[in-house]
Amino acid sequence: MSQTVPVPHGLPMDRDANPFDPPRALTRLRAARPVSPLVFPDGHEGWLVTGYDAVRQLMADTRFSSRQDLGVLHVPYETPGMPVPTEPSPQIPGVFIAMDPPDHTRLRRKLTGAFTVKRMKQLEEHIVEVTERQLDAMARLAPPVDLVREFALPVPSLVICELLGVPYEDRDTFQTNSAKFLVKEQTLEEKMAAYGALTTYLAELVTSKRAAPGEDILSDLARHDDLSIEELTGIAFLLLLAGHETTANMLALGAFALLEHPDQLAELRAHPDLLPDAVEELLRYLAVGDVFYRYATEDIELDGETIGKGSTVVVSLLAANHDPRRFEHPDTLDVHRKARGHLSFGHGVHQCLGQQLARVEMRAGFAGLLRRFPTLELAVPAGEVKLRTDMNIYGVHELPVTWTTETAR
Ligand code: HEM
Repeated sequence: MSQTVPVPHGLPMDRDANPFDPPRALTRLRAARPVSPLVFPDGHEGWLVTGYDAVRQLMADTRFSSRQDLGVLHVPYETPGMPVPTEPSPQIPGVFIAMDPPDHTRLRRKLTGAFTVKRMKQLEEHIVEVTERQLDAMARLAPPVDLVREFALPVPSLVICELLGVPYEDRDTFQTNSAKFLVKEQTLEEKMAAYGALTTYLAELVTSKRAAPGEDILSDLARHDDLSIEELTGIAFLLLLAGHETTANMLALGAFALLEHPDQLAELRAHPDLLPDAVEELLRYLAVGDVFYRYATEDIELDGETIGKGSTVVVSLLAANHDPRRFEHPDTLDVHRKARGHLSFGHGVHQCLGQQLARVEMRAGFAGLLRRFPTLELAVPAGEVKLRTDMNIYGVHELPVTWTTETAR
């Protein structure tokens, strides 16, 4: 493997002019050295994996531990007040995304039944109703409106609240605090304060469900005597956070991408049966949850490189999804593409538990939005849309849109 490519110092994640393409620095690195050494901002060395095959192989290999990073509380390089990790991070009870088997398996197994394709099919009609109600409310407003606030955030929040049995009226508590975790430059103190507020709220909620269970996923979990209140709280935290931030950003950034690709939007409007493929393509193309961390528990060979025991490994799902060795013309959004096999939901034992739910929400969301608002367009120049380059989940902070009122259905 070539040693001539400069080793990046810090993550080369800054976007260039086009808000959708992977950063050029990342693309160059993938072409030259898909498994590349990396120097973290504090000077300690790790690895950055950008090639499709290498990312897939890594995520399927549990010798790469997930006990490195939550993307929320930890970053694997020194932040003020935080030591450089030299061993796996301590586990937070219930937060199984940052656990390895067998702990991970024990907790995930309790939830698989709740998120199967079959369960999600049964919920589909209801999710369509939630989406349509939200679109009814939006159609009553005088444009321009912010699509994030009126549509992209409420739909997945309403759905996950209902599934988990979290009162939607409490959304200010969880939306504000979850957003605080995802700010890249947030101080550890602020993250801990947001985490504390959220878990205090959720601990009370799961305690009341254990005492008087209802008809929802958290109540079902609370019926398991072998789960402690701390574990229930951690699971609730993970599901709530993962369940609304990711899908909300896919809906908003997806709408922005379609509006910026009028030919693709027209194709989709003309052939609504393309929607399931278009959703997979948007997932591939946008990969809103891009960066994940792993920790090598032994020396491991990956794509001709030896990753030393104890190394931190950063994975870019966006770079992998845009690897020309896997997808032809990868930087082109093509609603006709068969994009299955993309890595936006990860791969291996941690592959997204909520992916079927996310698919149902996105199909209902894009179908409804395009049908009800045939003249939808941006209300500001594309260059003025505020991108979430400061957040750990990419997307847009706001998406001002408008339409000709008499065309809204
Ligand atoms: C895991 C992406 C929606 C719950 C993951 C992972 C990715 C991902 C990449 C793997 C993380 C890793 O390997 O470390 C997405 C995207 C979504 C989405 C792009 C929307 C478009 C959802 C929804 C839920 C959810 C709606 C609802 C419950 C989870 C959970 C995990 C997870 C619980 C951890 C699984 C495990 O560790 O076994 N997601 N997700 N996600 N996701 Fe999602």
